[in-house]
Amino acid sequence: MALNLSGRSVLTLLDFTSEEIEYMLDLSKNFKDMKRAGYPHRFLEGKNIVLLFEKTSTRTRCAFEVGGMDLGMGVTYLDPGSSQMGKKESIEDTARVLGRMYDGIEYRGSDQSVVEELAAKAGVPVWNGLTNEYHPTQALADILTMREEFGDTRGMKLTYMGKEQGNVSDSLMVICAKLGINFCSCGPKGDVEGATHFDPELLERCQEIAAQNGCTIQLTEDIEEGVKDADVIYTDVWVGMGQAEELWKSRIDLLSPYRVTPEVMAKANPGAIFMHCLPSFHDTQTTIGAEIAEKFGVTEMEVSDEVFESAQSRVFQEAENRMHTIKAMMYATLR
Ligand code: CP
Repeated sequence: MALNLSGRSVLTLLDFTSEEIEYMLDLSKNFKDMKRAGYPHRFLEGKNIVLLFEKTSTRTRCAFEVGGMDLGMGVTYLDPGSSQMGKKESIEDTARVLGRMYDGIEYRGSDQSVVEELAAKAGVPVWNGLTNEYHPTQALADILTMREEFGDTRGMKLTYMGKEQGNVSDSLMVICAKLGINFCSCGPKGDVEGATHFDPELLERCQEIAAQNGCTIQLTEDIEEGVKDADVIYTDVWVGMGQAEELWKSRIDLLSPYRVTPEVMAKANPGAIFMHCLPSFHDTQTTIGAEIAEKFGVTEMEVSDEVFESAQSRVFQEAENRMHTIKAMMYATLR
């Protein structure tokens, strides 16, 4: 069913109905098919978008750039140091300037309040490319990947391994509740230094949405219980973007039991897949990975290299799907 999302901002998927999310996912599949077939789809020729990144990125930036160019749009990238925003110019003034020049604005930064203020003042669609609270475009790509694997995802179970609250886990909890997918957060119940548990209001809201859609939100520290019946085992880095390096020691101590290993995968459903938003510390082939290995003697963190490289892993398909879903979202909101 074609829905009209024209002019809407995408700040959190809480703002969208199940039907609207399904519509963006259907559209994503269409765009993926067109791209694969080499079918031109410059449907937004003449439009321009700006990408504001206050934090680093590989997937999100490239997905917006390639997606925008495939749709025929002009794309401007502003890196963390090259705009006046927040330093010499308020968020409100920046939004009012960019909204007069561009048809859409992507923002990656810290506080959700910034992307909300941009959207309130810009007068054009604003897309959240990651804030401390939400990462909606990641969640869309994750569910597209699940759909490709399983077809209908309603009634399936996705288990997120590690600390509770994070922009990825929050967004997965929201999208699962909206789409009738059972969501489980499997991690320590006690305090994790420098991290929080799910915001009680968000949790309660997601539980209500889940009940309406015939699925559940499960929180457990028991790995057997968390992984049982899971169709997707998902994890993310233990120390997020912009968080203090001092957190590594306590996170490694607390979260190591929740590392996704072949033993963990074996407890999930037969046919279960492994997913990760990336980047991932699954070996020592990065500066940080090598430093952690030297300091703490740990050569793989949230996921073992064996699982990351296994036939069950869908991480690169998931990364590619960032582009198709972001393209669909831009098209739906700018058409
Ligand atoms: N998953 C994700 O957002 O990747 P980037 O940080 O590379 O954009």
